[in-house]
Amino acid sequence: AKNKAWSGRFSEPVADFVLRYTASVNFDKRMAKADINGSLAHAAMLEKAGVISEQDLADIRRGMKQISEEIAAGKFEWQLALEDVHLNIEARLTSLIGDAGKRLHTGRSRNDQVATDLRLYLRDEIDGIVAQLNELQKVLVRVAEKESDTVMPGFTHMQVAQPVTFGHHMLAYVEMFERDHERMLDLRHRVNRSPLGAAALAGTTYPIDREYTAELLGFEGVMQNSLDAVSDRDYGVEFLAAASLIMIHISRLSEELVYWMSQRFNFIHLPDRFTTGSSIMPQKKNPDVPETSRGKAARVIGELCAFCVLLKGLPLAYNKDLQEDKEPIFDAIDTVRDTLHAFIEMMPGVEPQRDVLREACHAGYPTATDLADYLVRKGVPFRSAHDIVGQIVRAAVEMKCGLHEMPLEKLQSFSDKIGEDVYDSLTLEGALKARNHTGGTAPAQVLRQVGLWKDLFARR
Ligand code: ARG
Repeated sequence: AKNKAWSGRFSEPVADFVLRYTASVNFDKRMAKADINGSLAHAAMLEKAGVISEQDLADIRRGMKQISEEIAAGKFEWQLALEDVHLNIEARLTSLIGDAGKRLHTGRSRNDQVATDLRLYLRDEIDGIVAQLNELQKVLVRVAEKESDTVMPGFTHMQVAQPVTFGHHMLAYVEMFERDHERMLDLRHRVNRSPLGAAALAGTTYPIDREYTAELLGFEGVMQNSLDAVSDRDYGVEFLAAASLIMIHISRLSEELVYWMSQRFNFIHLPDRFTTGSSIMPQKKNPDVPETSRGKAARVIGELCAFCVLLKGLPLAYNKDLQEDKEPIFDAIDTVRDTLHAFIEMMPGVEPQRDVLREACHAGYPTATDLADYLVRKGVPFRSAHDIVGQIVRAAVEMKCGLHEMPLEKLQSFSDKIGEDVYDSLTLEGALKARNHTGGTAPAQVLRQVGLWKDLFARR
């Protein structure tokens, strides 16, 4: 029983199933780099405080360098018996450098160590996600520019409502990803605080310098209460909530891509390389990427939920339950990163079918509001105009024609305010062009927004 870091007080070895059941090394080894960096900062601080010698620090640095190389080369032997990433690395360090390795854990606990590691690890991943969001925004802005005047039906209640431009539709998602971007950068400040030095829960008797380790590790500040420092996982909830919103936004886009590709709509084509076939139906070309991401959104939302439930009943301070914090966070990171990657690759390949999109507009009288607005400009109160146009639409349904195809005399039979110039308001282009204000769908506005986004991208 003497081969474990904590086995001094035990009279028999831990049962095999307990070992397997409670170990985390299989998943927490991905924090190895953060663990080593945290240990190096802690050791440097101990040396500065006179707790370990200069020689100890030099040995620790040398040992950690070798361990980093072993891990990078895939040669490091992870042992389940050593439970987690922390004890695996510490044991290897001691086997490499002897007593100095045994001094590393002075004034520290795995409780503040793991809290530090997860924050360092997550901080890096947040930076990766932020960069990917930025990349996806750029890709969507490029599509928006290309399709700035591609007309398509805008829907409410899935009924044709008013014409919009495909570019405008893409820019709606750019806005969503901008908020996701902001959220990630905002929560990063709360991830980026140092719990190191809280030790097990109450602090330590050594003359430690927490501000020094925080600075070495690039933290923005030191957590001020040791009990909170080892038990806080709020930032995990924040991260998973922000990750869920990214996935929710992707999932809404996915839903649109899926139905846009359906034969009933045929709004877009996707190149073959982003689609898959059927093992029985030879004709099939399925939108598997957006369907997969729509499905994966459920995982991340589930992870947010699991994480909240994990925390809600925990007394202060550290409890082993907290080991369950890692897999949801890791899986959410992997899912979000893979998904963003897929969309960065796929979105430039979306080919809007311009003729189909235009034709689809006509099915639903999308310029009816424009006709009402026309009457208002001629002095008719809006409510009366709404009623008049409703009657005109009913007539158009009976005549099986579009509003723009109705003869002038027919239109005039509903209102003598209607003149020759009405047709400017009834065309799709006229309707688009008329919505020329901040946030409107006019092609000129889309291009203006594209320009604003490009300025922003150039600045960051
Ligand atoms: N593997 C543990 C975790 O992930 C590390 C901390 C364990 N601390 C303890 N006293 N058992 O939470």
